[in-house]
Amino acid sequence: MDPKRRAAEAALELLPAAGTIGLGSGSTARLFIDGVGALVAAGRALRGVPTSEASRAQAEALGIPLAPDDGPWSIDVCVDGADEVSDALDLVKGGGGCHTREKIVNEAARLNVIVVDASKRSRRLGERWPVPLEILAFGRDATLARLASFGRVELRARDGAPWRSDAGNYLADLHAGTIDRPAELDARLRAIPGIVETGLFVQRADVVLVATADGVERLDRPAR
Ligand code: A5P
Repeated sequence: MDPKRRAAEAALELLPAAGTIGLGSGSTARLFIDGVGALVAAGRALRGVPTSEASRAQAEALGIPLAPDDGPWSIDVCVDGADEVSDALDLVKGGGGCHTREKIVNEAARLNVIVVDASKRSRRLGERWPVPLEILAFGRDATLARLASFGRVELRARDGAPWRSDAGNYLADLHAGTIDRPAELDARLRAIPGIVETGLFVQRADVVLVATADGVERLDRPAR
């Protein structure tokens, strides 16, 4: 079985009998949403809060009821993927450009479950992935110039054009090297007015399910 599917199926075991579920984005979350659709079709009273328009379209096609976009929500569990998971269980997210919505839903959830395959693990953030940034269109180049002191920054493109988020903002990747203090970097980046959100998720994963070739390893964030 595809390791991503193994992780997605393990996450289904952590859902309540009934309740509101954060529906993540990306290829692993997509497999999870398929599973939620099957549970709903079998009669489980679950409804979703989608973290992207792609996840919304998938959920609607599967007949998963959705909560209103405006919130506030009472989210029992959010299940999402990640691009990088450090030993401290901090995350880089946003490879698909959905990290702002993902962070909003993550912060509204009582339990955050991250589903990844073993290729996403690193000792420290930044070893495998740059920091995704969502940038407001107004003053874009001024914001990019402010970022120069943090490292090399690249505006993200897709099909030869700037890649816009679901909200219409620009996306960029900051190559800041390995990150010793992700909370501090996140705060400094978010203090720049044109930065809408970063893809640094610091201590926002409660459970990480890591699929390997022959099983799923469960990592729990130590109680604070
Ligand atoms: C979307 O913006 C991301 O945060 C995804 O959750 C992340 O890129 C993981 O995607 P995959 O499961 O496709 O690797």
